[in-house]
Amino acid sequence: MIEVGLIGLGNVGQGILNIIQENQALLTQRVGQPIHIKTIMVRDPKKYNHIDFGDSKITTQFSDLINDNEIKIIVEVIGGETPAYDYICQALEHGKYVVTANKEVVSKHQKTFFELAKKHQVDIYYEAAVGGGIPIIRSLKVGFSANKIESLLGILNGTTNYILTKIEQDSQEFDVTLKEAQELGLAEADPSMDISGLDAAHKLVILAAVAFKSNIQVKDVFYEGIENITLKDMKYAKELGFAIKLLALAKHVNGKQLSFKVHPTMIPLSHPLANIHNEMNAAYLKGNAVGEALLSGKGAGGSPTGSAIVSDIVDIAFDHTQDVNRRNLEPNLKTADLCPFEDTDSAFYIRLKVNDHHSVLEQLLGVLAKAEISVSKILQKEIQNNIAEIVIITHPTKEHQMAQSISELTDIDTVKKCCSVIRVEEQV
Ligand SMILES: NC(=O)c1ccc[n+]([C@@H]2O[C@H](COP(=O)([O-])OP(=O)(O)OC[C@H]3O[C@@H](n4cnc5c(N)ncnc54)[C@H](OP(=O)(O)O)[C@@H]3O)[C@@H](O)[C@H]2O)c1
Repeated sequence: MIEVGLIGLGNVGQGILNIIQENQALLTQRVGQPIHIKTIMVRDPKKYNHIDFGDSKITTQFSDLINDNEIKIIVEVIGGETPAYDYICQALEHGKYVVTANKEVVSKHQKTFFELAKKHQVDIYYEAAVGGGIPIIRSLKVGFSANKIESLLGILNGTTNYILTKIEQDSQEFDVTLKEAQELGLAEADPSMDISGLDAAHKLVILAAVAFKSNIQVKDVFYEGIENITLKDMKYAKELGFAIKLLALAKHVNGKQLSFKVHPTMIPLSHPLANIHNEMNAAYLKGNAVGEALLSGKGAGGSPTGSAIVSDIVDIAFDHTQDVNRRNLEPNLKTADLCPFEDTDSAFYIRLKVNDHHSVLEQLLGVLAKAEISVSKILQKEIQNNIAEIVIITHPTKEHQMAQSISELTDIDTVKKCCSVIRVEEQV
């Protein structure tokens, strides 16, 4: 019997219980021994009276898990940094394997966890922390391990992908769509982590270690959210042949530096990520041997996330029963040579409201030319009350050049407002 201790019995905790109950025979066949949740730790057991725990014991004491020598694996699905950090450290120090779905604690403390696990001859698995049920981490560690990963683009947050899909499909503005997503349980009551891009930035920190062996922190990731994406930009993007997605982007720059960013991005409608809709997640990578590859699936929910957790348990349990050690650790993390954000490149979509005057275009193009920014498309959209809407798509340019040009464009008398600036990636 592989004895497991479970901390937390919310969406994911219950998903894990269900999978282990439903697939017990298959899991036993795969591992060679049954997987058994011996003890479950919750804060308030009364809240869980309606759940069938089988013969699992319920406790409110972490010591009941940590001091039980039969428990080999501790699964942490409570979320947040504290007390999850302490529980994980203590579990590793007591020689127990850890499985977690917690992107926040892993992205902040992965190096400490890897070192502790190595010292105590155990391991930490966190497949569920990025992309829910999609095996992105295992694919990068094992399936693509022969490759230098040249670039990695991800739709790593289901809530924002759902909202962007609905803005486009239902022709609704952001605020209305967010409210609807909250009513459907697809956005949190406090959605700020998701909407701001911070949740995806945490996940990108984890992928930076797995795909690029880089030890970075969230402060090293530029992130911008989707709160300013309008229905109008979505429509214009489509007319121009683009979809707008919140992408996490990791790329090599100048052959030696790396850049990590999360922001709304216009990508060609023909790009595989343009067809990832609703709450689905995806990772699209280029490896120097494999070429392009796409992984996609459900990025959240008790069952998909539970699927990733139980797969991690199976991996550990298999090693245990076969008496082998296939460490999941990232032992050779390096400090990354990061390209400063201002020096990274993007093409840009700019939407401006201007006076409908014959000299305006010349003035706009003059500002961009001064910063050596060339234009790939320029369109005049609607005109109302002598105010015209101009949409410009530039060729790739550096962030600092674009920031300077936007400030100069808004200083032109005939420019009434710079409504939107969205990064465009045509060659990804
Ligand atoms: N839900 C998803 O789709 C999803 C997807 C990917 C990753 N994740 C990650 O999975 C983890 C769990 O998410 P979830 O959606 O299952 O959360 P959840 O539904 O809020 O459940 C959290 C559970 O942990 C318990 N808990 C919280 N603090 C505790 C503590 N100090 N001691 C003991 N129990 C405690 C809660 O009990 P109370 O009822 O007493 O608060 C609850 O049972 C998070 O790290 C999350 O980021 C979730």
